[in-house]
Amino acid sequence: MSITVNINGEILSQENAKISVFDRGFLFGDSIYDVTYSQSNSFVFLDEHLDRLWNSARLIGMEIQLPREVLVQRILDTAKASGLDEVYARIIVTRGESDLNISTDQYQQNVVIYIKPNIKYDPALYTRGLHLSLVSRARNDRRSLDPNAKSGNYLNNILALQEARNSGADDAVMTNTNGEVAEGTTFNIWMVKDGKVLTPHHDSGLLRGVTRAKVIDICGSNDVVLEERTITTQELIDADEVFITSATKGIMPVYKLDSKIYAENSDQRPITEALRKSYIELIQEHINKGTYSY
Ligand SMILES: Cc1ncc(COP(=O)(O)O)c(C=O)c1O
Repeated sequence: MSITVNINGEILSQENAKISVFDRGFLFGDSIYDVTYSQSNSFVFLDEHLDRLWNSARLIGMEIQLPREVLVQRILDTAKASGLDEVYARIIVTRGESDLNISTDQYQQNVVIYIKPNIKYDPALYTRGLHLSLVSRARNDRRSLDPNAKSGNYLNNILALQEARNSGADDAVMTNTNGEVAEGTTFNIWMVKDGKVLTPHHDSGLLRGVTRAKVIDICGSNDVVLEERTITTQELIDADEVFITSATKGIMPVYKLDSKIYAENSDQRPITEALRKSYIELIQEHINKGTYSY
């Protein structure tokens, strides 16, 4: 697979894309990033993802040096150079290159954009669903590294994924350090109980997903009762339906959590399916506007 890379404004092939071993993203995970994608040569919710990128920077005490409109132009130019109409885009801003010490003086930041073909998930993950595991690895406490900062340090999530895979599941759900449900390794988690849709409140310690915000809006405009609140692991186990959200996966059902089976086909999860349909329509409407097309 070929990935087109933009390093500080220069578009490079995968083979020629190189960055210094003194970059703080490499040395310390001292970076922030965001991920979005395009459909029919038009980016999906790019404004929301860039708002979050700026917010992640704020949460790690970093002011992004590159003007936002320059970054947008680089993303569009790199996507165009890739020749692809459906791309996955990852934007990373690192605090720059420094000596081997951790002090956060002013450095020249590195801005890297990766463009590759958008991920095609196995269709069975939408018809049957995902198998998740509630792992023992807790999500970072908000007072240590706030999960709402999408930082370049994903070791917490990597270790959770490792634990889930070792138990035979596809992916992991983490609790916070109080044992309340927080989020997945790269997605937000949702449950349906007695016709109500529930998702952990952001105080539970999670990344405020762009998709999560859109699904909250969809519930509001379709008179679906939604609660953002603390969710116990027992409530998640006892749910009628469970699903996850992320930009690249959209709304993906969960058929199994450890040994608990919810539903193995779409007829058995009416609310998840209705939300999924509305979300797909929302994206189509957004794409039709072509705000960020290339
Ligand atoms: C830890 C974590 N939580 C949630 C999400 C979902 O966020 P979004 O819907 O913006 O992709 C992601 C994906 O980026 C993530 O990495």
